[in-house]
Amino acid sequence: MMQTELDLFDPGAPLQPQWVAAQAVVLPGFALPQVEALLPELRKVVAAAPFRHMLTPGGQKMVVGLTNCGELGWVSDHRGYRYSPFDPLSNQPWPALPEVLLDLAGRAAALAGFAGFRPDACLVNCYRPGNRLSLHQDRDEQDFSQPIVSVSLGLPAVFLLGGQVRNAPTQRIGLRHGDVLVWGGEDRLRFHGVLPLKPGAHPLLGNLRINLTLRKAG
Ligand code: SIN
Ligand code: FE2
Repeated sequence: MMQTELDLFDPGAPLQPQWVAAQAVVLPGFALPQVEALLPELRKVVAAAPFRHMLTPGGQKMVVGLTNCGELGWVSDHRGYRYSPFDPLSNQPWPALPEVLLDLAGRAAALAGFAGFRPDACLVNCYRPGNRLSLHQDRDEQDFSQPIVSVSLGLPAVFLLGGQVRNAPTQRIGLRHGDVLVWGGEDRLRFHGVLPLKPGAHPLLGNLRINLTLRKAG
């Protein structure tokens, strides 16, 4: 009894993982200890490969700003969605995936039951108030046995986790600064999206939400 109370009120105790599906888990605040190291690395990535609004295959401009780091980067244009080793804006390779992020993703994946995860791609999404991401599946990667690790920074958002078909019911999952969400295995192809971002001011990132999704794409 006493022990339980101590655990509950110990400010140093890490928050418990929250399983939101059989192979999908939120790790609250898991990235917080790395944020200070991560932000300068992210600034370097964005300086080399700025956020841009890619075109959907149908010719619509995506509202969420997007860039990549890693050996492969996710791109979209009139030819479709795919991974490319080159940034189409510069025709240069994407900036390298920062070591701090590789390490974080590997540890988060292992906690979720995916040992040995070594991402080769990191999609960086930048949301401004009002921006949303409609329901979609992540299926441009080669090997669906590899999980997706998502790191949220800045303003909080509501993530929608759906089912295997677009019109299945969705659950709403709050993702805050420093939270990590991992999904894989039988949940790897679940539809997912993000509700319109509410305005706000984050002490480190202002009126932005940055989401990093780490994948083994190739
Ligand atoms: C994505 O599905 O690529 C991003 C999800 C998120 O922003 O949380
Ligand atoms: Fe996605």
